[in-house]
Amino acid sequence: MAQGARKIRVGVIFGGRSGEHDVSLRSAQAILRAIDRERFEVVPIGITREGRWLSGGDPLRQLAATSRLALAPGDDPPAEESDLGSALAVPETGHAVEVAGAGVVQQLDVVFPVLHGPYGEDGTVQGLLELADVPYVGAGVLGSAVSMDKVVAKQLFEREGLPVAPWLWVTRRQWERDPEGVAARVERELGYPCFVKPANLGSSVGVSKVHHPGELPGAMEEAARYDRKLVVERGIDARELEVSVLGNDEPITSVVGEIRPVNEFYDYQAKYVDEGSELLVPAPITQEQSDTVREMAVRAFKVVDAAGMARVDFFLERNTGTIYINEINTIPGFTQISMYPILWEASGLSFRELVSRLIELALERHAERRDGSGV
Ligand SMILES: Nc1ncnc2c1ncn2[C@@H]1O[C@H](COP(=O)(O)OP(=O)(O)O)[C@@H](O)[C@H]1O
Ligand SMILES: [Mg+2]
Repeated sequence: MAQGARKIRVGVIFGGRSGEHDVSLRSAQAILRAIDRERFEVVPIGITREGRWLSGGDPLRQLAATSRLALAPGDDPPAEESDLGSALAVPETGHAVEVAGAGVVQQLDVVFPVLHGPYGEDGTVQGLLELADVPYVGAGVLGSAVSMDKVVAKQLFEREGLPVAPWLWVTRRQWERDPEGVAARVERELGYPCFVKPANLGSSVGVSKVHHPGELPGAMEEAARYDRKLVVERGIDARELEVSVLGNDEPITSVVGEIRPVNEFYDYQAKYVDEGSELLVPAPITQEQSDTVREMAVRAFKVVDAAGMARVDFFLERNTGTIYINEINTIPGFTQISMYPILWEASGLSFRELVSRLIELALERHAERRDGSGV
């Protein structure tokens, strides 16, 4: 960068109203630590569980104080003095102050939304950023929205010819009106064990493994706490494979990784609380399996219209060797121990380089869209 050139001002947005608020704080902490401060001026922006936007001071610490998951130990870079910080009139206590979301984002060159789940990964924040005409990391409104909805995403995967485990979906109302009818469908079309999930969450929040019909009502009610669309899938006895995708129109893939959950399945507890789930990088699979998974990951990325980044997850059925696509995550976990950055490290791209590349991709995509917008 030329001497004296202004650094690119990057807003990192975290927290948020979803059930994945706590995970977002951990991801954001890792990104704030890794981001290249020679190139980027960083403006941390927190969103409380109630949806209030906080900037100035140290919004990460402020939100972490009421989080169920502790931040990683160690030092974090101090909040930088920026023009924006003083414009926000940060009180002397160092506390972040409430800001108007739209107002604050317009003072940024680019935004890295590190929000998992609804109101962040689902196209809502992306829509705000489009309106404000600010470039941002990751998928746009459409790609975010369809990827967040397991029903629509599966329908698109099927259209693309990607194998999906047998599944069905019902609304909360359908379940409440006719539980026997829904149970009969599950028995007939899927069998047991099966998995019940809310259509719109991640981090395994609201996901249950149902071993026999007696467990179905409890699982449906749990999922119904989070969404009005409920997905039921055949339980696959499978190894779990994940691939990281990076790029816009011509995305590249990382090596394939495998997760061996510490619990019966990869639930919230196994992901974030209990230690001991194993990440195998690269996954001990054949070259052919690896090629298949990577090729499927790119097709999935394109069919949902993702951009920038995504992690695509698969099941490798133990008995048959069948590979099923499970889901695509457009804002994958980004902690130091998350698969997305780990797979890139293993593919030769450091965490810092990865963050820089994602910001560049956001700027490139914005510039391209502007060229083609006709305005
Ligand atoms: N159909 C299935 N067969 C076997 N295991 C499953 C199935 N669906 C989900 N799981 C288990 O539950 C975990 C979470 O489900 P997933 O669909 O990935 O939801 P989330 O979006 O919350 O991560 C998976 O990582 C896997 O361990
Ligand atoms: Mg998952």
